[in-house]
Amino acid sequence: MDDVLVGPLDLAARVDEALAVQALAFGLDDDEIAIRRQIVLRHLMYPGARALGATTAANRLVGFVYGMPNDRAHWWSTVVEPYMRRTGTEQWLNDSFVITELHVLPAYQGRRIGRTLITTITDTAAEPRSILSAIDVESPARALYRTLGYTDLARPVHFPSAATPYAVMGAPLPLRR
Ligand SMILES: CC(C)(COP(=O)(O)OP(=O)(O)OC[C@H]1O[C@@H](n2cnc3c(N)ncnc32)[C@H](O)[C@@H]1OP(=O)(O)O)[C@@H](O)C(=O)NCCC(=O)NCCS
Repeated sequence: MDDVLVGPLDLAARVDEALAVQALAFGLDDDEIAIRRQIVLRHLMYPGARALGATTAANRLVGFVYGMPNDRAHWWSTVVEPYMRRTGTEQWLNDSFVITELHVLPAYQGRRIGRTLITTITDTAAEPRSILSAIDVESPARALYRTLGYTDLARPVHFPSAATPYAVMGAPLPLRR
């Protein structure tokens, strides 16, 4: 990551760049980008929402993370709650920092940028734990989350908007190094 710096990101101002990163890293079509754009801008108005970016010396955005303290009234929390109640992990929804998105451009993956983004944003969280949802397959993302101490809290979790099942994962903060 020699030429890439991780620091605060004005995600509202750079939302189109961030969604371009997400489109290449995660796969989003134009319709999904338009929907995500509205969702991201709404998320940024929630209390405690924060973003970090990974930028090159030329200020090109190559990765980003954002999240916020969980609010049990938010859509994501209401979807995962019944699954977590069934596995007895519902208390993870309280006093928890949610990682909403984490993406690194494919050409920049494998250089510890993703790890730096998620550990840096959670290091400044006031909450004692972090939760997130990830597609329920053995992906680089899930491998990363496991090395940081995240374990499966509920799976498979079905979001009404998604075709593939997800896993909800949680880790104590600060994340394990
Ligand atoms: C998940 C993601 C953000 C990780 O970013 P990254 O900068 O490539 O990750 P890092 O270089 O910091 O790797 C950290 C750890 O992730 C795991 N990892 C990364 N790439 C991996 C791969 N190809 N296969 C298996 N594990 C991998 C390893 O545990 C690695 O630890 P190590 O550095 O000690 O080997 C990136 O792969 C990505 O954007 N993926 C597509 C989008 C996505 O799935 N986002 C998450 C949505 S839930």
